[in-house]
Amino acid sequence: MEIDKILESYKPVRREDLIPILQSIQENEGYLSEDAIVRTGRYLGLSTTKIYGLATFYDQFRFIPAGRIHISICNGTSCFLNGSRSVITRIKEITGIEPGQTSRDGLFSYEIVSCMGGCTNGPIILVNGDYVSHVRPEQLPDLIGKLKYLFEND
Ligand code: FES
Repeated sequence: MEIDKILESYKPVRREDLIPILQSIQENEGYLSEDAIVRTGRYLGLSTTKIYGLATFYDQFRFIPAGRIHISICNGTSCFLNGSRSVITRIKEITGIEPGQTSRDGLFSYEIVSCMGGCTNGPIILVNGDYVSHVRPEQLPDLIGKLKYLFEND
């Protein structure tokens, strides 16, 4: 859905809808572009500075496109207790980027999220929409290496 259509679906215009609007745009576009922020600001009568200020407060928003391989890592309580920190550390080492960033070649991005609803199977990661349960740091080089090979030779 185009940004204008998303905005139009939030009527009457209410500033309290800012976060749901940004969520809808990100769901559709994959991230919040400058253009999306400007249009949302015009629609709600808010400055872009205010919108950036609020949106950066929430971990869920991205301001650059995700990588072709995007990994969500659960760091909710249960996954944390089952070792998600070491999974996050390993992914950071392999990709060389921080959560919320995209690698220069556009191949990788990752984010840290809270509970994905599969606590008994943690730590859990979601790789391009596929869940991997009970993930261990030592599995990651192989898993990411295979994906990298597939995407680079696509
Ligand atoms: S805490 Fe990770 S799935 Fe619930």
